[in-house]
Amino acid sequence: MTISHTGPIDTASDTASDTDAAFTLAYDGVDPRDEGLRETLTSTGNGYMATRGTAEWEEADDVHYPGTYAHGLYNRATTLLGGVPVHNEDLVNLPNWLPLKLRIGGVEVLRLADVEILDYRHRLDLRAAVLTRHLRFRDREGRETELVSRRFTSMASMHHAYLEWTLTPLNWSGPAEVVSAIDGRVTNDGVPRYRDLEGVHLHPVGAEFPESEVMALKTRTRQSEVTVSVAARTRVLAVGRPVEVPRSDFRTPDHVQQTLHLDLERGVPVTVEKSVALFTSRDPATGDTLVRAHRSVARSRSFESALAHHRESWNRLWQACDVQVFGDDEAQHLLRVHISHILQTCSPNTADLDAGVPARGINGEAYRGHVFWDELFVLPFLTYRLPGVTRSLLMYRYRRLAEARAAARAAGRAGFMFPWQSGSLGTEETQEVHLNPMSGKWDVDLSHNQRHVSAAIFYNVWQYITTTEDTMFLESQGAELMLGIARFWSSVAHYSSDRERYEIHGVMGPDEYHEKYPGAAEGGLRNNAYTNVFVAWICDIAAHLLDLLPAPRADAVRARLELRDEEIERWKDISRRMFVPFHDGIISQFEGYDDLEELDWDAYRAKYGDIQRLDRILKAEGDTPDRYKLAKQADAVMLSFLFGDDELRRIFTRLGYEFPDDAARRMIEYYDRRTSHGSTLSYITHAGVLARFDPDSSWERFTVALRSDVGDIQGGTTREGIHMGVMAGTVDLVQRFYAGMRAEGGMLHLEPNLPGAIDGVSFTVIYQRSPLTVTVMRDEVVIRHRDGVIDATPVRVRVAGRERLVAVGGEERFSLA
Ligand code: BGC
Repeated sequence: MTISHTGPIDTASDTASDTDAAFTLAYDGVDPRDEGLRETLTSTGNGYMATRGTAEWEEADDVHYPGTYAHGLYNRATTLLGGVPVHNEDLVNLPNWLPLKLRIGGVEVLRLADVEILDYRHRLDLRAAVLTRHLRFRDREGRETELVSRRFTSMASMHHAYLEWTLTPLNWSGPAEVVSAIDGRVTNDGVPRYRDLEGVHLHPVGAEFPESEVMALKTRTRQSEVTVSVAARTRVLAVGRPVEVPRSDFRTPDHVQQTLHLDLERGVPVTVEKSVALFTSRDPATGDTLVRAHRSVARSRSFESALAHHRESWNRLWQACDVQVFGDDEAQHLLRVHISHILQTCSPNTADLDAGVPARGINGEAYRGHVFWDELFVLPFLTYRLPGVTRSLLMYRYRRLAEARAAARAAGRAGFMFPWQSGSLGTEETQEVHLNPMSGKWDVDLSHNQRHVSAAIFYNVWQYITTTEDTMFLESQGAELMLGIARFWSSVAHYSSDRERYEIHGVMGPDEYHEKYPGAAEGGLRNNAYTNVFVAWICDIAAHLLDLLPAPRADAVRARLELRDEEIERWKDISRRMFVPFHDGIISQFEGYDDLEELDWDAYRAKYGDIQRLDRILKAEGDTPDRYKLAKQADAVMLSFLFGDDELRRIFTRLGYEFPDDAARRMIEYYDRRTSHGSTLSYITHAGVLARFDPDSSWERFTVALRSDVGDIQGGTTREGIHMGVMAGTVDLVQRFYAGMRAEGGMLHLEPNLPGAIDGVSFTVIYQRSPLTVTVMRDEVVIRHRDGVIDATPVRVRVAGRERLVAVGGEERFSLA
């Protein structure tokens, strides 16, 4: 097969309807059971803020949940649970800017439950995250009305969101009212499991009508004292021209609204435009947030002009970020759903914020908007396309070094110990207890022992630097971050003179089902293989890191960390003498894993059907997963996912252990049978590891991950927010595992493993500041060096063992025949 099309499509110029379908997430009809999920999946975000796809007229209830969130904006609250103070920090649900309500004859006519729906279509145009609702309904008086609602959160102008209604009375004429509001009476109430915990985060400050068309509301978060102001300008247009209509204003300190009095004529459409500006006291160039929001919204563009500007920004993003797979339309479509949501959460607008990668995006309240280790799965997508965004997300960690240092010290360690769940301050935000919905009981939560998050941060910085060669970042922040983490691990490891090796005790791996040894009083395990091997790798990189810097910069980093030569010597020693547990010729998940009991998987499947959440099942039975050879998600297997065979062989050889050629295959065979995939991240890891020796079974896992959010396979979790790690992980599988791309030794390597289900893949990456289009088909790989950057340089590539230089503006073809 020869390649005719070697680049992401120009989304702006594609108007064919099949392409529209590939870029649309569509729902027909109303289904109350599905509405929460649709609201999440059709949310509109721009990396600065996001709003759920709730209909404008709905309030929070068991079906709907309007929520608006700003990236990185948290508040802490305390609940007395049985007299015990429980502290939680939440991504704050901000004032709802959506409300538009239709009243006819003094009665609210647009409650879907009260009208007869003649037509209802709900769409998200993925090209630009534009939400459209198209509906026709008949009210109790027999009046038929058509409403087309469109909205977006501007990618081009990050503080702005726009909403437009086009109303047509189909068989009636007469007076009607549209109520436009900003509602500050909101709480965090989106996750039923958290409802016993305090959800009030906002204090009302006041409401104003600074201009006849503009209303504004100011609130302040109760503990973090962030001022948030939302202003809205509502206008009426007839035949495209603004018209004056009578308005009545109403406000309380936490709610503001304007009622527009319209005279509607049968068959004549009228448009209502609501433009919104949101500013917080965390924003630069902002004094009084209300003044800023008011001024900004008063100057905002018309809906159409703002939409064109917004589409143009998205179009450029797709040029950089689209990933094409040929031969599987469903996979293509879902990848685009994922890319759209990743960019709605982390976009160039995020690059100026102090915000991390929230595991569940910014369109729901699951995990309280906290930042876990999931960026490990997200950054590879961003680094290859929007490296400035990755840098900013790494800066979120760097800015929290003081807390990481204090946490290490409080635990009797040195260096930087990052929290398992991070929010505003960078302190540990993991809850102390969590509710098991199966038993209704609050269980102790030991997951904060997942110290591997600090290893992931080290890895992320290193990947960013190898991919971008951003030596400035390495010099000014990266090296300090990495070496402080190495110092932490060195202080956690202790030398066992019996084994003559280093050991790590008291931590948990990514598999959260093993919190401690059966019957043990203390949490944590001995020698979790994922952690130990990772630390051996970290110590090796760290020991040589300063050699990469010019002497004065290396000295500055040393001085800042007060680094001693003995420390570096100890890192070298750890990289050669870390202990790794084995049993039956494979790496044990942790020391003592072999002594655990085998679970009767068939019996549990027969009894419960879905056994992904074996932790809840076993605990509800009065048992504990700690007793069994099982895993929530990939743990030891993650090593193959992160490092690949060559790197693992180097690590193991340095450690004096054997690493047989079939080690990865044997590991995945063993653990695959014992993993419940209770976190969908696990499908990503298993798919990645299987790609090399069983691409088709890898594709099966990939497909599960791909469908997991859109199909809500965990039964209700996606309505509480997307899964960022899985969404980005699927896209990363295409580039790093199916195209087999990795940056190493100053070269871009490609070792394709295309599954039988697809004919090929194509995407654009930025490698060492040069934009490249990579196309991998069954019989050929094409790498095109696209011009467009000032300091582009030729790029060295190695495809299936052959090395070549791709000239600036040039193209290299590699036959795979
Ligand atoms: C997973 C973690 C993950 C977290 C947030 C949990 O279910 O086990 O690995 O970091 O979700 O996505």
